[in-house]
Parts: sequence; C-alpha cells; structure tokens
Amino acid sequence: MTKILTIRHQAELENSLNELLSDYEARQIFVLCDQNSKTHCLPLIANFPCLKEAQHIIVPAGDEHKNMETLSAVWSSLSRKGGTRKSLLINLGGGMLSDLGGFAAACFKRGIDFINIPTTLLACVDAALGGKTGINFEGLKNELGAFYPAKAVLIYPEFFRSLDRDNLYSGYAEMLKHGLLSSHAHWQQVLSFDPVGASTRESAGLILDSMTVKEKIVKEDPFENGPRKALNLGHTIGHAFESLSHKRNIALLHGHAVALGLVCELYLSNKLAGFPEKELKACVNRVKQTYSAYPLQKSDYSELIGFMQHDKKNRDRHIRFCLLKDIGQTLPDATATPEQIEESLDYYCENLL
Ligand SMILES: NC(=O)c1ccc[n+]([C@@H]2O[C@H](COP(=O)([O-])OP(=O)(O)OC[C@H]3O[C@@H](n4cnc5c(N)ncnc54)[C@H](O)[C@@H]3O)[C@@H](O)[C@H]2O)c1
Ligand SMILES: [Zn+2]
Repeated sequence: MTKILTIRHQAELENSLNELLSDYEARQIFVLCDQNSKTHCLPLIANFPCLKEAQHIIVPAGDEHKNMETLSAVWSSLSRKGGTRKSLLINLGGGMLSDLGGFAAACFKRGIDFINIPTTLLACVDAALGGKTGINFEGLKNELGAFYPAKAVLIYPEFFRSLDRDNLYSGYAEMLKHGLLSSHAHWQQVLSFDPVGASTRESAGLILDSMTVKEKIVKEDPFENGPRKALNLGHTIGHAFESLSHKRNIALLHGHAVALGLVCELYLSNKLAGFPEKELKACVNRVKQTYSAYPLQKSDYSELIGFMQHDKKNRDRHIRFCLLKDIGQTLPDATATPEQIEESLDYYCENLL
C-alpha cells in the first residue's frame, strides 16, 4: 500500500520526511533528481537534518533520457556509493524520473524501497502513483518495466512554482480525465480549477482528490486486467496525436495530446454510448480555453488511425477505447470503426480549430 501525504508548507514537509525516514534510520538514503529538479526542488529539502547524509544521484532531464543508459548509470551510482538491500531511494522529479527511479529500485538488489516526491503536476496526479515503472527501449515508450509501487508519495504543490505553463496544463489534462471518471461534483470542480496561479492550499486539496480517483481504480485492478483500463480514457486518440507529432518533429506534451484525445473520445462516447452533450460541450470549452490549437487536416486522418491500429491495447483488428456512458460510468473495452473515428476528428476540427 502506498501512503499518500499532502503537504501545505515547508515545516510540514520536513516533519513528514522525518517521520517516513525514521523507518530507515542508519540506512543509506539516495535522492535521485534530474537537472531541473536538482536546480529547482532539491534546495527545498537538501538541508533537512534527516537528509543531511543522503547521497545525490543526478541524471539528465527529458524523456529521451528515460533509457537503458541512464538506468545503468543509476544502478552504477547505487552500487558505487554502497547501496544495500536496505537502502531507500527518493525520486524527486517528474514522471520521467519516477518511472526511471522506480524501475531502478525494483531491480537493484532484487528490490529496494522507494518514495516518490513528484515535482510536476503530471507526475503528482498520475505517474508517481499506481506502481507502473519503466523505461523506453528501442524507440518504444515504456517497453521495459515492472509493477513496483512506491512506499509513499508526498504531494507538495510548492514544487510546481517553477514549472512552466505548458507543463502545468499537461498535468491538468489528467485531472480532467480523473474528473470524467469520477463524479459530477469532482468534474465540476476540476473544470473550474486553473493550475496556473492556484494557491498551494487549493491545489493540494484538488490534487489529492484527483489522485484518489486513480488510487481507487488501481486498487481494484493493480495489473490492468480490467477496470484499470478506464485510465486510458482520451489516450487511444491522444497517443496517436503524440506519435504524429513525434514523427513530424512538432513539440506536443503528453497532457496536451490527451486533452485533444478526450474531446474526440467524448464525441465517440456521445455518439456510441449516449454520453451527455452538455458535458461534451463543457469539455470542448475547457480544452479550447486552455490549450493551443493543434493543426489537423483531413489528409492526416489515415496516419492517425494507423497509429491507433498499432496501439498496445488492441487484442484484434479493432481499435480499443475506454468510452463513457456518463460521468463516472465507463465502457473500458469499447470499439469504434475507422469511419466513426474520422467523424470524431471532424468534430475536433470543427470545434477546436
Ligand atoms: N508510471 C505511470 O503510471 C505514468 C503515468 C503517466 C506518465 N508517465 C510517464 O511520465 C513521464 C511524463 O511526466 P512529466 O510530464 O512529469 O515529464 P518529465 O519528468 O520529463 O518533466 C517535464 C519537464 O519538467 C522538468 N521539471 C520537473 N520538475 C520541475 C520543476 N519543479 N520545475 C521546473 N521544471 C521541472 C523536467 O526536468 C522536464 O524537463 C513520461 O515518461 C510518461 O511515460 C508514467
Ligand atoms: Zn496520460
């Protein structure tokens, strides 16, 4: 069971870490950072007495470094610096870092404990929780990995102060997704939340609610055999947008792609499962206000659908989606025809461009 701790000020952060680390007294503690979390976040905790003796391991920032080379460098550092089976790894960074560090912890000495301190909104509401760890391999995202949950996740929204707007909104898309998967009340709260300029207190409360949505789903199905597939809402079409951008060398953050995917998949939900038109419109408006338009033409459709046909979730020729009948009512193994998907892309072009 992963312990989730919400922290609202620096003193609370120190107390919580003190308490968590008391289980590891006299053991070696490692703090893993990337270059950016080292600059912006490590100074907030490095001087705590409970971390005075901790050793720092720094890796380059960016998803292109979530690979074998960096993983191997982390293992070498752990080994060289005297890591043992009883050591603790603290992952201080975004989702790239918690995926990499979690996987490093899963294998080092056949598994050491780790704690995630997410420093991006996306990592906080999504990547840091749920036990999925891993790296990219031979051009494939998250091709190697393990289910290996963190002992604890510490939520401290103060870390997000140095995050740029695009990364804040990237995480916000996963909050929109969790809102759609939970209840009308939570969906309304997320719709009226703006992570840019929100106070620590306001962010902390809503982030915790958002994580709780994921936690509940993961608890029911930790290894993604059924209900956990709901967390793929917006991701079948979202991943296709991401792949298209990658191929064309256009920057598109994961959450931005998911937001576009949510619009298309809610359109399909409305057409195929009766999802309310009013909520579809609310989502379209929020996405339009929040994210820049991503250019799309009819001539791109076949390439996008091609990417969807290669999605890991497909078991046969059908493209799989999680669709919604209503807020909180999922159809995790739904399918749609290429013609219906094209219609959803038309809807995107008509409403978001
Ligand atoms: N394991 C899961 O369940 C899961 C779920 C979703 C996403 N992911 C993974 O998470 C990764 C994406 O996460 P991400 O968006 O956090 O990416 P990221 O970790 O690459 O962080 C984005 C950028 O922000 C920088 N950064 C981090 N914290 C900062 C701070 N406080 N201030 C300023 N800059 C900061 C990073 O160095 C990086 O440049 C992907 O690798 C994805 O596969 C995993
Ligand atoms: Zn996602």
